[in-house]
Amino acid sequence: MTRKKPQTFHVKSFGCQMNVYDGERMSEMLSAEGMTAAQDSTDADIVVLNTCHIREKAVDKVYSDIGRLRRDDGTRPMIAVAGCVAQAEGAEIPRRAREVDIVVGPQAYHRLPFLIEKARNGEAALDTDMPAASKFGALPSRAMQKRPTAFLTVQEGCDKFCTYCVVPYTRGAEISRPWNAIIDEAKALIDGGACEITLLGQNVNAWTGDDPAGRAQGLDGLIRALDTLPGLERIRYTTSHPNDMTDGLIAAHGDVEKLMPFLHLPVQSGSDPILKAMNRSHSAKSYLEVLDKVRGVRPDIALSGDFIVGFPGESEADFEATMQIIRDVHYAQAYSFKYSPRPGTPAATMADQIPASVMDERLQRLQTLLNEQQYAFNQASVGKQTSILLERAGRRPGQLVGKTPWLQSVHVQADGAQIGDMIAVDIISAGPNSLHGEIVKRKAA
Ligand code: 5AD
Ligand code: SF4
Repeated sequence: MTRKKPQTFHVKSFGCQMNVYDGERMSEMLSAEGMTAAQDSTDADIVVLNTCHIREKAVDKVYSDIGRLRRDDGTRPMIAVAGCVAQAEGAEIPRRAREVDIVVGPQAYHRLPFLIEKARNGEAALDTDMPAASKFGALPSRAMQKRPTAFLTVQEGCDKFCTYCVVPYTRGAEISRPWNAIIDEAKALIDGGACEITLLGQNVNAWTGDDPAGRAQGLDGLIRALDTLPGLERIRYTTSHPNDMTDGLIAAHGDVEKLMPFLHLPVQSGSDPILKAMNRSHSAKSYLEVLDKVRGVRPDIALSGDFIVGFPGESEADFEATMQIIRDVHYAQAYSFKYSPRPGTPAATMADQIPASVMDERLQRLQTLLNEQQYAFNQASVGKQTSILLERAGRRPGQLVGKTPWLQSVHVQADGAQIGDMIAVDIISAGPNSLHGEIVKRKAA
């Protein structure tokens, strides 16, 4: 029996910004197929769970989310599991959760319409291929995206094989999208109203490609080309590896005006023995040297990072080295996690796994320090005037929220301004996570 063709869809993305981007592209593709977006999963004919596999519990969460899609009347939508859990678990998913109709990996989601047809006919619809031909060419153009800020994936995958990480297995080898495809997508996003573009990649600063003149370029070349596009006002990129911070990219932070003064550069640990066991191929010192160079050309840069506490073998002294590097750097914001053993990664079977209670206690100390630094960074903005790009409505009536060049959220009373406007504000107060501003009556500098 053939099932009814889905008319409405809901895509729910978990995890990183690359997943958010993939979710947007899946939505655009389903719209191009004639379906309409539903507000949430309860009134969608097909629900796509775009999953993350980076830490434990992600898989359990997927199964509980699937269970929750069952409706009071006993019906359920067509269910597609996409993303990194789909890639890692594959056929295990419909075995464990029979209600799942489609399993599609991050490199195969351009085939979703075909998989929907298969599922309608009651056929197994599983695709976790990593085809050599990129999915991007098969996706509809970005014309539908109508927002002031946009993500643009320029690079995918990872060849670095940090010993804790699933990404090389779920996202595959490093690939860089071609120059022209990226520039064309950027232009389409700008035509749709984007004035800020964030270039994405698991290792975005490892991007390489040839420009139209055939010259080999790195991410800095691409950023310089985007800088010339009229209508684009802000460029960001994430997430980076310290070893791929080339001198060219560092120089771009000094002289490309549209490149925002913000750098997310994960270090993971401040202890060299732990960095070695993580196969990070940089030391605490070489990381700090990169930051010194960046601060040399852009003294006001806001720094962000990722930290893992409780990696196997982490002693109190190793942990203290991580606390010390944080004290040395002064982060504007950061993400920190308890180490989570991922099946199939080398670290999962290393000796000397750290007890949960030790990890909890270390994470708390680390986060206390990072929170203090973030608050201090925000407080230092009070009294300054800056430009913000208004992105969304705030919680209070008439309130809008925008971002500073340093990626802080600022709440303002709209006062005639609209989402998408770049406006000048005076920062009047700061909280741990956001700022309050007042609109300056003249245009942003
Ligand atoms: N356990 C804990 N954190 C992890 N990350 C990646 N893998 C793991 C893991 N197994 C963190 C790293 C990475 C961020 C995206 O997630 O800090 O930079
Ligand atoms: Fe999660 Fe990493 Fe996959 Fe992003 S790339 S969805 S963070 S596992």
